[in-house]
Amino acid sequence: MKHTLMELPYAMDALAPYISEETLKYHHGKHHAGYVNKLNELIKDTEYEEMSLEQTIRQSNGAIFNNAAQTFNHDFYWNCLNPTKTEPSELLLNAIKTTFNSMESFKEAFSKAAAGQFGSGWAWLVTDEHEKLRIYTTSNAHTPIEHNLTPLLVCDVWEHAYYIDYRNERAKYLDNFWQLVNWEHVSKIFGDKELLRSSASVPICNDPDDPICEYLDDMSRQGTTST
Ligand SMILES: [Fe+2]
Repeated sequence: MKHTLMELPYAMDALAPYISEETLKYHHGKHHAGYVNKLNELIKDTEYEEMSLEQTIRQSNGAIFNNAAQTFNHDFYWNCLNPTKTEPSELLLNAIKTTFNSMESFKEAFSKAAAGQFGSGWAWLVTDEHEKLRIYTTSNAHTPIEHNLTPLLVCDVWEHAYYIDYRNERAKYLDNFWQLVNWEHVSKIFGDKELLRSSASVPICNDPDDPICEYLDDMSRQGTTST
């Protein structure tokens, strides 16, 4: 399949002043687009041409892996941001309180992990193999779906995500990141995952252009074949 650059779910200037139009133009239009274009170039006439993005991530290495994973990670990042204020669902908020004591202590721990990620990488909220919420960091292009962790929220801590607006001050970017988190999106994935767990593998998403839906459907199919 030919991979396509996802359209941003908001206008280029919608995240200002926290993330500027200039940053979005470079980050989405140059960096993210560059990963998608390179991936299509690399998979041409190979076995990966027939695979979904998730299959490619799980089965490749080297440059194909890097560009496939960066395509997925950026798709996920854009969907985690939103210009208008949103709130987490009660289900997610309760899980956050159970795991981290409070929303504030979760944010503090997440920001600390993101600030401490050495060099380029990503900070994530995931559910782990025991269905527990966990803060997780990955370097370069690495992504939780390599390790069967379900991503719920991500912050891009590559310098290209913040250097235009914040120069080297990653901590300021992280402070403002919380103004933009799309809690409705995070809550939807968490809710879908819980539903998947309780309803024993009924497909819940069928949009091939949405990597998160595709990912949840993959999990669903795995559940079906393993029983
Ligand atoms: Fe990025």
